[in-house]
Amino acid sequence: MKDFESSKILVFGGAGFIGSNFIRHILSEEHPEKLVNFDKLTYSGNPDNLREITSDPAYEFMRDDIADYRAVEATIKKYKPQYIINFAAETHVDRSIHVGARDFIRTNTEGVFNVLEAIKNIGGVKKFVQVSTDEVYGSLDLNSKRKFKEGDELKPNSPYAASKASGDLWCRAYYSTWNTPVVVTRCANNFGAYQYPEKLIPFFILRMLTGQKLPLYGTGENIRDWIHVLDHCQALKLCLLSGRPGDIYNIGAGNEKTNIEMAKMILAHFNKDESHIEFVTDRPGHDLRYGINTDKIRTELGWEPGYNFNIGFSQTIRWYIDNRSWVEKIYNKTDDINAHIKNLNKDKYKN
Ligand SMILES: NC(=O)c1ccc[n+]([C@@H]2O[C@H](COP(=O)([O-])OP(=O)(O)OC[C@H]3O[C@@H](n4cnc5c(N)ncnc54)[C@H](O)[C@@H]3O)[C@@H](O)[C@H]2O)c1
Repeated sequence: MKDFESSKILVFGGAGFIGSNFIRHILSEEHPEKLVNFDKLTYSGNPDNLREITSDPAYEFMRDDIADYRAVEATIKKYKPQYIINFAAETHVDRSIHVGARDFIRTNTEGVFNVLEAIKNIGGVKKFVQVSTDEVYGSLDLNSKRKFKEGDELKPNSPYAASKASGDLWCRAYYSTWNTPVVVTRCANNFGAYQYPEKLIPFFILRMLTGQKLPLYGTGENIRDWIHVLDHCQALKLCLLSGRPGDIYNIGAGNEKTNIEMAKMILAHFNKDESHIEFVTDRPGHDLRYGINTDKIRTELGWEPGYNFNIGFSQTIRWYIDNRSWVEKIYNKTDDINAHIKNLNKDKYKN
């Protein structure tokens, strides 16, 4: 896309799962003049995710905190980016419940405010995309056919979703008050390479690789809507270039699956039967179903997902098996995942 070729792009939170996939995609497809990755490298930020592109002369990494206004302002002043996209976030719902939500407010809400405020004060930014989530809409009934649209009310249920919804509202306020050129995207659950193995798919694969059972919350009937991370990245690129300022775009591929279906698909891949599932006490406030209507981005921006779910999902499982050392390095580095597993097993219930 011509517009990106001579541009500077500032990415917040580019060392995590989606951000690193986005940066790899942009550097290989779009050749911007400069791409700056501003990331605090929290537990989920991993320089290994971008190891092969660190020698790209257009790429620059800086370790800093989006919740620090002065750092955000200084970075925008220094690089004068035309495009900004924000992935930086605390992203794990269980942590927002069991560990605490303060960091979620700092990063997911104040961080967004800082970017908006710096863009207003400095100027010169053509577009800012705030990467949000469908979880801000809350939960749908399991048996309804309804899907959330962009104009629907925000009814976040988890502390994570509330902190993201607050960020979305700050975007709305800055557009309405100062015409800040911000676009908010709300995406479904992503799957693909480089996802931190506390999240469902890499977590289950890791459990299989280490000969353990798959813990499922409640009855496993909760439904999530899945999209390949590279389809998400493609949609984000379009929003950065052509998304209408002040607008919201849902991004999803219409792959609604129950958690137990996902578990069974992973078990099948490892030739295991359902006796390898163990049901654990449900997450408090666990949303039943996510489902989003994505007509707007398809008709207005001409976006379509390119991945077939079954093929993309099998390739994802293969990636974690082939890159076992990537997973194990994280696993050995931190006891986070062990703590998480312990937490799940503690409340195991029998039925
Ligand atoms: N993963 C999904 O399925 C999904 C779905 C919809 C939306 N999203 C949104 O996409 C974005 C990226 O999600 P992800 O799954 O890649 O998350 P992730 O946890 O893998 O990565 C988050 C990144 O943000 C960085 N970060 C955290 N706090 C920071 C701070 N204070 N300052 C600077 N950097 C900081 C981390 O170091 C990490 O690199 C998030 O905003 C999330 O809400 C994710």
